Amino acid sequence: MTLMKEIEDRRAYRGLAPDPLPEDQVQRLLSAAHLAPSCFNKQSWRFVAVTGDALAGLRETLPEGNKWATRAPLIVVAVQKPSLDCRLDEGRDYAPFDLGLAVMSLVLQATHEGLVAHPIAGYSPGKVRKVLGIPEDYVVQTLVIVGQRGPDDLLTDWQKERETGPRQREPLEKVAFRNRWPDPTSG
Ligand SMILES: Cc1cc2nc3c(=O)[nH]c(=O)nc-3n(C[C@H](O)[C@H](O)[C@H](O)COP(=O)(O)O)c2cc1C
Repeated sequence: MTLMKEIEDRRAYRGLAPDPLPEDQVQRLLSAAHLAPSCFNKQSWRFVAVTGDALAGLRETLPEGNKWATRAPLIVVAVQKPSLDCRLDEGRDYAPFDLGLAVMSLVLQATHEGLVAHPIAGYSPGKVRKVLGIPEDYVVQTLVIVGQRGPDDLLTDWQKERETGPRQREPLEKVAFRNRWPDPTSG
């Protein structure tokens, strides 16, 4: 048994169905995030799972390019507070890193359950903060847009191509090395 199926199946899909998700499923996704590792177990992440009528205000924080996300039945707002986490030398602030680990756990569990879970950076963080009452000292890091796959009528042509076209990645050897950093003079 491997997790590669979920890792390969996950795509930044944008066509969503508005059907509400069962409460136990929402709780399971939050539990997946909750069980992620964090530096010194500081758990500097916080999540606001927004569903139902509460989504109306959040939709107003999305730009035209993320109109597709207005149909989602669940948006998990993921925030972190740097001062709650490890802050080590050479710029090693672990709060965003730990939040990323937790969000990926949620995303993979959602994928396993046949859902789309798509983190976005395109929203107004100030408006999200205001709508949800998030304190100033927390960074509104990402909105995870969650739902069943659905019609693509809210997508631009570029977005439609993106979710059906081939995966776009740098070559593995350009980003992953073995045993030591590559010699910059070779290749
Ligand atoms: C932190 C983050 C922010 C993103 N922001 C947006 C966004 O605002 N709108 C959007 O449509 N996709 C957004 N994406 C999706 C990426 O564009 C997508 O993951 C990337 O192109 C790779 O495609 P894939 O996830 O299908 O492999 C974001 C992804 C991440 C991880």
